[in-house]
Amino acid sequence: MKISKRMSLIRPSVTLAITAKAKAMKADGIDVIGFGAGEPDFDTPDIIKKAAEDAIDRGYTKYTAVSGIPELKDAIISKLDRDHGLEYARENILVSCGAKHSLYNLTQALFEEGDEVIIPAPYWVSYPEQVAFTGAKPVILPTSEANGFKINPEELKAAINENTRGIFINSPSNPSGAAYSKDELQSIANVLEDKELTIISDDIYEKIVYDGFKFHNIAELSEKIKAKTVLVNGVSKAYSMTGWRIGYIAAPKEIVSACSMLQSQSTSNPTSIAQYAAVAALGCPDSVIGDMVEQFDIRRKHIIEALNDIDGVACTTPNGAFYVFPDISAVFGKNYNGRVIKNSLDFSDYLLEEMNIAVVPGSAFGSDNNIRLSYVTSMENIDKGITRLRDGIARLKA
Ligand SMILES: Cc1ncc(COP(=O)(O)O)c(C=O)c1O
Repeated sequence: MKISKRMSLIRPSVTLAITAKAKAMKADGIDVIGFGAGEPDFDTPDIIKKAAEDAIDRGYTKYTAVSGIPELKDAIISKLDRDHGLEYARENILVSCGAKHSLYNLTQALFEEGDEVIIPAPYWVSYPEQVAFTGAKPVILPTSEANGFKINPEELKAAINENTRGIFINSPSNPSGAAYSKDELQSIANVLEDKELTIISDDIYEKIVYDGFKFHNIAELSEKIKAKTVLVNGVSKAYSMTGWRIGYIAAPKEIVSACSMLQSQSTSNPTSIAQYAAVAALGCPDSVIGDMVEQFDIRRKHIIEALNDIDGVACTTPNGAFYVFPDISAVFGKNYNGRVIKNSLDFSDYLLEEMNIAVVPGSAFGSDNNIRLSYVTSMENIDKGITRLRDGIARLKA
């Protein structure tokens, strides 16, 4: 059987692969502590589930408009106005099957061979893969831990050339949790303002922020920047709705039309029932998710303190999302019974196989000195897992 050459442009998602391996070990009766998951461990709020039940009862179980039901587009428009003071019309909104699908449509509609797309590292695993799948070149822009894993505007300027067609901004970030202040976004906007490119702003972790951090989107800064920005968001992370698969973009209408056309020939509309649930989610006050964010904050502080207490681990404090991204490069070159740890993948494999903890290697996110741990698990599991991590590191010999 022949598989298309195009398929060789992409690799499977490492995060999903690790989660699958950990699940298989658990199914075999092994007590694995999972720090790999990328989804909240809270249930979808009742008010949202009820909206889905009502949608079924009312018979909203048929195809909808490809680009989404008007009620959801209006709920998105209200949310963007309320939260960011951004004005959009229905023609600027496209609802898709999760933000990942929104990003897939976008990369396909915007980029092609010969184009370059800037991806600050550490990055979410799917950005370079989706860009590469279009034939365009992902240009990785490294950031430093000392700079809080944030873009240095001078380095950004140097990375742009006449082929640059796009840049991703993901704040708060998966995997680092780093989030940009309004001033930091302004310094980036100053570099991008006069460039012929599209800014893809992935705001999926916008609601999960700590220490009074105020989220801003780069499109808020000026009409000129807004005109070149595609805002990507969804309900997966904020409302614990990962399985419902609703994401959306707000963008100039030509981009929405192109993405809608692609969607019309691929998935058609996202699930009708999930769209009605998303209307309810976006209508909820932030207090509905207040308890979840508060619990994440307690775990965040706890896990950072515990990690920094381990010799050979250094962890910065992120402002958002539900991940920590500690530097573990001090273990490189060490070994366990002759098994040498050369990089973050070796270390993650060692942790899973010998210590039964699932973490994601930083190399998957373009930062090999680190590993990613998500703290969407109980405090008890966090304590158990961190103890195993400490023991695992202590067992390594120079
Ligand atoms: C940075 C980032 N963007 C987008 C997504 C996709 O979210 P979904 O497709 O569930 O809406 C994820 C999920 O892990 C993510 O971490």
